[in-house]
Amino acid sequence: MASQVTVTTLYKMMEKGEKIVALTAYDFPFAKLVDDAGIDMILVGDSLGMVVQGNTSTLPVTMEEMLYHTQMVSRATSRAMVVGDLPFMSYQSSLAEAIDNAGRFLKEAGAAAVKLEGGAAVSETIAAITAAGIPVQAHIGLTPQSVHAMGGYKVQRDEDRLMADAREVADAGAFSVVLEGIPADIAEKITKAIAIPTIGIGAGALCDGQILVIHDLLGLNDRHLPKFVKQYANLGEAARQALENYADEVRSVKFPGEEHCY
Ligand code: KIV
Repeated sequence: MASQVTVTTLYKMMEKGEKIVALTAYDFPFAKLVDDAGIDMILVGDSLGMVVQGNTSTLPVTMEEMLYHTQMVSRATSRAMVVGDLPFMSYQSSLAEAIDNAGRFLKEAGAAAVKLEGGAAVSETIAAITAAGIPVQAHIGLTPQSVHAMGGYKVQRDEDRLMADAREVADAGAFSVVLEGIPADIAEKITKAIAIPTIGIGAGALCDGQILVIHDLLGLNDRHLPKFVKQYANLGEAARQALENYADEVRSVKFPGEEHCY
Protein backbone atom coordinates (compact mmCIF):
# COMPACT_ATOMS: atom_id res chain seq x y z
CA MET A 1 0.00 0.00 0.00
CA ALA A 2 1.41 3.43 -0.95
CA SER A 3 2.27 5.61 2.04
CA GLN A 4 -0.29 8.17 3.13
CA VAL A 5 0.03 11.74 1.96
CA THR A 6 0.62 14.08 4.90
CA VAL A 7 1.41 17.75 5.35
CA THR A 8 5.11 16.78 5.20
CA THR A 9 4.59 15.03 1.84
CA LEU A 10 3.01 18.19 0.44
CA TYR A 11 5.90 20.38 1.60
CA LYS A 12 8.41 17.98 0.03
CA MET A 13 6.47 18.01 -3.24
CA MET A 14 6.41 21.81 -3.24
CA GLU A 15 10.16 21.98 -2.58
CA LYS A 16 10.90 19.54 -5.42
CA GLY A 17 8.54 21.36 -7.80
CA GLU A 18 6.25 18.30 -8.09
CA LYS A 19 2.67 19.40 -8.71
CA ILE A 20 0.12 18.51 -6.01
CA VAL A 21 -3.03 16.97 -7.51
CA ALA A 22 -6.22 17.58 -5.57
CA LEU A 23 -9.86 16.85 -6.34
CA THR A 24 -13.16 16.92 -4.48
CA ALA A 25 -15.13 13.77 -3.62
CA TYR A 26 -18.23 13.34 -1.50
CA ASP A 27 -18.92 9.61 -1.20
CA PHE A 28 -17.34 6.14 -1.05
CA PRO A 29 -17.34 5.06 -4.73
CA PHE A 30 -15.97 8.33 -6.09
CA ALA A 31 -13.41 8.69 -3.29
CA LYS A 32 -12.19 5.16 -4.05
CA LEU A 33 -11.75 6.03 -7.74
CA VAL A 34 -9.91 9.23 -6.83
CA ASP A 35 -7.63 7.49 -4.32
CA ASP A 36 -6.92 4.60 -6.72
CA ALA A 37 -6.00 7.15 -9.41
CA GLY A 38 -3.19 8.45 -7.19
CA ILE A 39 -4.70 11.89 -6.51
CA ASP A 40 -2.77 13.38 -3.57
CA MET A 41 -5.50 15.27 -1.74
CA ILE A 42 -9.28 14.77 -1.53
CA LEU A 43 -11.29 17.78 -0.42
CA VAL A 44 -14.77 16.97 0.86
CA GLY A 45 -15.88 20.39 -0.28
CA ASP A 46 -19.04 22.21 0.70
CA SER A 47 -19.49 22.41 -3.09
CA LEU A 48 -21.50 19.25 -2.39
CA GLY A 49 -24.31 21.67 -1.55
CA MET A 50 -24.48 22.50 -5.25
CA VAL A 51 -23.34 19.38 -7.13
CA VAL A 52 -24.85 16.72 -4.83
CA GLN A 53 -27.72 18.47 -3.01
CA GLY A 54 -28.80 20.66 -5.95
CA ASN A 55 -28.73 23.97 -4.08
CA THR A 56 -27.81 27.20 -5.88
CA SER A 57 -25.05 28.03 -3.37
CA THR A 58 -22.96 26.34 -0.67
CA LEU A 59 -24.61 28.33 2.12
CA PRO A 60 -27.25 25.79 3.29
CA VAL A 61 -24.73 22.99 3.96
CA THR A 62 -24.57 21.92 7.61
CA MET A 63 -21.82 20.46 9.82
CA GLU A 64 -23.74 17.17 10.16
CA GLU A 65 -23.96 16.83 6.37
CA MET A 66 -20.26 17.57 5.97
CA LEU A 67 -19.34 14.97 8.60
CA TYR A 68 -21.58 12.36 6.96
CA HIS A 69 -19.92 12.83 3.58
CA THR A 70 -16.41 13.03 5.05
CA GLN A 71 -16.94 9.70 6.83
CA MET A 72 -17.81 8.02 3.51
CA VAL A 73 -14.76 9.51 1.81
CA SER A 74 -12.38 8.57 4.64
CA ARG A 75 -13.59 4.96 4.56
CA ALA A 76 -12.63 4.72 0.88
CA THR A 77 -9.25 6.39 1.11
CA SER A 78 -5.92 4.78 1.90
CA ARG A 79 -3.33 7.15 0.37
CA ALA A 80 -4.79 10.60 -0.32
CA MET A 81 -4.93 13.26 2.37
CA VAL A 82 -8.59 13.88 3.27
CA VAL A 83 -9.51 17.51 3.98
CA GLY A 84 -12.93 18.40 5.42
CA ASP A 85 -14.46 21.74 4.45
CA LEU A 86 -15.86 23.81 7.32
CA PRO A 87 -19.33 24.94 6.13
CA PHE A 88 -20.75 28.46 6.29
CA MET A 89 -21.23 29.67 9.89
CA SER A 90 -19.41 26.73 11.48
CA TYR A 91 -16.28 28.80 12.26
CA GLN A 92 -17.28 32.48 12.12
CA SER A 93 -19.13 32.97 15.44
CA SER A 94 -16.36 32.20 17.93
CA LEU A 95 -12.93 30.65 18.15
CA ALA A 96 -14.27 27.97 20.52
CA GLU A 97 -16.95 26.92 18.04
CA ALA A 98 -14.41 26.92 15.19
CA ILE A 99 -12.04 24.64 17.14
CA ASP A 100 -14.88 22.29 18.18
CA ASN A 101 -16.19 21.96 14.64
CA ALA A 102 -12.72 21.53 13.13
CA GLY A 103 -12.00 18.85 15.73
CA ARG A 104 -15.15 16.93 14.77
CA PHE A 105 -13.80 16.40 11.23
CA LEU A 106 -10.75 14.59 12.68
CA LYS A 107 -12.46 12.86 15.61
CA GLU A 108 -15.71 11.73 13.98
CA ALA A 109 -15.04 11.68 10.25
CA GLY A 110 -11.45 10.56 9.70
CA ALA A 111 -10.19 13.74 8.02
CA ALA A 112 -6.53 14.75 8.38
CA ALA A 113 -7.13 18.49 7.99
CA VAL A 114 -9.84 21.12 7.54
CA LYS A 115 -10.34 23.98 5.09
CA LEU A 116 -11.98 27.32 5.72
CA GLU A 117 -12.62 30.38 3.57
CA GLY A 118 -11.15 33.82 4.08
CA GLY A 119 -7.88 35.70 4.38
CA ALA A 120 -6.74 38.23 6.97
CA ALA A 121 -10.22 38.26 8.53
CA VAL A 122 -9.90 34.62 9.62
CA SER A 123 -6.20 34.55 10.51
CA GLU A 124 -6.97 34.39 14.24
CA THR A 125 -9.26 31.44 13.63
CA ILE A 126 -6.60 29.66 11.58
CA ALA A 127 -4.07 30.21 14.37
CA ALA A 128 -6.47 28.90 17.04
CA ILE A 129 -7.41 25.74 15.12
CA THR A 130 -3.76 25.11 14.22
CA ALA A 131 -2.77 25.54 17.88
CA ALA A 132 -5.23 22.76 18.71
CA GLY A 133 -3.16 20.44 16.51
CA ILE A 134 -5.47 20.50 13.49
CA PRO A 135 -3.90 21.35 10.12
CA VAL A 136 -5.81 24.14 8.35
CA GLN A 137 -6.00 24.87 4.64
CA ALA A 138 -6.99 28.45 3.88
CA HIS A 139 -9.00 29.56 0.81
CA ILE A 140 -8.71 33.07 -0.62
CA GLY A 141 -9.81 34.96 -3.75
CA LEU A 142 -13.26 33.92 -4.92
CA THR A 143 -14.70 32.44 -1.73
CA PRO A 144 -18.15 30.97 -2.51
CA GLN A 145 -19.45 31.29 1.07
CA SER A 146 -19.15 35.08 0.61
CA VAL A 147 -21.17 35.09 -2.62
CA HIS A 148 -23.51 37.81 -1.32
CA ALA A 149 -20.70 39.97 0.06
CA MET A 150 -18.82 39.68 -3.28
CA GLY A 151 -21.96 40.50 -5.31
CA GLY A 152 -21.79 37.16 -7.17
CA TYR A 153 -19.19 34.58 -8.19
CA LYS A 154 -16.65 37.08 -9.50
CA VAL A 155 -12.94 36.84 -10.33
CA GLN A 156 -11.02 38.72 -7.60
CA ARG A 157 -8.37 41.12 -8.95
CA ASP A 158 -7.20 43.28 -6.03
CA GLU A 159 -3.53 42.23 -5.98
CA ASP A 160 -2.57 44.07 -2.76
CA ARG A 161 -5.45 42.54 -0.85
CA LEU A 162 -4.87 39.04 -2.25
CA MET A 163 -1.15 39.20 -1.42
CA ALA A 164 -1.91 40.49 2.11
CA ASP A 165 -4.48 37.70 2.63
CA ALA A 166 -2.02 35.04 1.42
CA ARG A 167 0.74 36.30 3.71
CA GLU A 168 -1.60 36.52 6.71
CA VAL A 169 -2.98 33.00 6.38
CA ALA A 170 0.54 31.60 5.92
CA ASP A 171 1.78 33.54 8.97
CA ALA A 172 -1.22 32.29 10.98
CA GLY A 173 -0.06 28.71 10.40
CA ALA A 174 -2.15 27.44 7.47
CA PHE A 175 -0.38 24.45 5.88
CA SER A 176 -1.68 25.32 2.40
CA VAL A 177 -3.92 27.82 0.68
CA VAL A 178 -6.48 27.41 -2.10
CA LEU A 179 -6.37 30.29 -4.61
CA GLU A 180 -9.72 30.49 -6.40
CA GLY A 181 -10.77 32.75 -9.27
CA ILE A 182 -7.78 35.09 -9.44
CA PRO A 183 -5.63 36.17 -12.40
CA ALA A 184 -2.77 33.77 -13.16
CA ASP A 185 -0.04 36.43 -12.78
CA ILE A 186 -1.21 37.30 -9.24
CA ALA A 187 -1.38 33.60 -8.30
CA GLU A 188 2.18 33.15 -9.58
CA LYS A 189 3.42 36.09 -7.45
CA ILE A 190 1.64 34.71 -4.36
CA THR A 191 3.07 31.22 -4.97
CA LYS A 192 6.57 32.69 -5.10
CA ALA A 193 6.01 34.94 -2.06
CA ILE A 194 4.74 32.45 0.51
CA ALA A 195 6.32 29.29 1.91
CA ILE A 196 3.21 27.06 1.92
CA PRO A 197 1.75 25.16 -1.07
CA THR A 198 -0.80 27.05 -3.18
CA ILE A 199 -3.57 24.97 -4.74
CA GLY A 200 -5.21 26.73 -7.67
CA ILE A 201 -8.71 26.60 -9.09
CA GLY A 202 -9.14 29.23 -11.77
CA ALA A 203 -5.75 30.66 -10.78
CA GLY A 204 -3.49 29.59 -13.66
CA ALA A 205 -0.89 26.86 -14.08
CA LEU A 206 1.86 28.16 -11.81
CA CYS A 207 0.37 27.29 -8.42
CA ASP A 208 1.99 24.41 -6.52
CA GLY A 209 -1.06 22.26 -7.25
CA GLN A 210 -4.52 22.22 -8.80
CA ILE A 211 -8.00 21.27 -7.64
CA LEU A 212 -11.33 20.84 -9.44
CA VAL A 213 -14.82 19.74 -8.47
CA ILE A 214 -15.12 16.08 -9.51
CA HIS A 215 -18.64 16.43 -10.95
CA ASP A 216 -17.40 19.22 -13.27
CA LEU A 217 -14.37 17.21 -14.42
CA LEU A 218 -16.41 14.05 -15.14
CA GLY A 219 -19.34 15.73 -16.90
CA LEU A 220 -21.86 15.13 -14.11
CA ASN A 221 -22.86 18.76 -13.69
CA ASP A 222 -25.44 20.11 -16.14
CA ARG A 223 -25.19 23.66 -14.86
CA HIS A 224 -23.06 26.41 -16.39
CA LEU A 225 -19.38 25.54 -15.91
CA PRO A 226 -16.83 28.25 -15.13
CA LYS A 227 -14.09 28.95 -17.71
CA PHE A 228 -11.48 27.27 -15.49
CA VAL A 229 -13.10 23.81 -15.71
CA LYS A 230 -11.77 21.19 -18.10
CA GLN A 231 -14.19 18.32 -18.62
CA TYR A 232 -12.16 15.10 -18.95
CA ALA A 233 -15.13 12.76 -19.50
CA ASN A 234 -18.87 12.91 -20.11
CA LEU A 235 -20.18 10.38 -17.61
CA GLY A 236 -23.51 12.21 -17.48
CA GLU A 237 -24.16 11.39 -21.15
CA ALA A 238 -22.98 7.77 -20.72
CA ALA A 239 -25.30 7.36 -17.71
CA ARG A 240 -28.27 8.89 -19.55
CA GLN A 241 -27.71 6.47 -22.46
CA ALA A 242 -27.45 3.46 -20.12
CA LEU A 243 -30.64 4.43 -18.29
CA GLU A 244 -32.58 4.88 -21.53
CA ASN A 245 -31.35 1.47 -22.72
CA TYR A 246 -32.48 -0.12 -19.45
CA ALA A 247 -35.93 1.48 -19.72
CA ASP A 248 -36.29 0.35 -23.37
CA GLU A 249 -35.28 -3.23 -22.55
CA VAL A 250 -37.66 -3.51 -19.59
CA ARG A 251 -40.51 -2.15 -21.69
CA SER A 252 -39.74 -4.49 -24.61
CA VAL A 253 -39.19 -7.47 -22.25
CA LYS A 254 -35.56 -7.90 -23.39
CA PHE A 255 -34.37 -7.57 -19.80
CA PRO A 256 -34.03 -9.71 -17.77
CA GLY A 257 -32.66 -12.30 -20.22
CA GLU A 258 -32.32 -16.00 -19.48
CA GLU A 259 -28.81 -15.43 -18.12
CA HIS A 260 -30.24 -13.16 -15.40
CA CYS A 261 -32.87 -15.71 -14.25
CA TYR A 262 -32.63 -18.49 -11.63
O1 KIV B 1 -16.05 23.40 -1.81
C1 KIV B 1 -15.18 23.12 -2.65
O2 KIV B 1 -15.27 22.12 -3.36
C2 KIV B 1 -14.03 24.01 -2.75
C3 KIV B 1 -13.06 23.76 -3.86
C4 KIV B 1 -13.66 24.05 -5.16
C5 KIV B 1 -11.77 24.46 -3.65
O3 KIV B 1 -13.90 24.89 -1.97
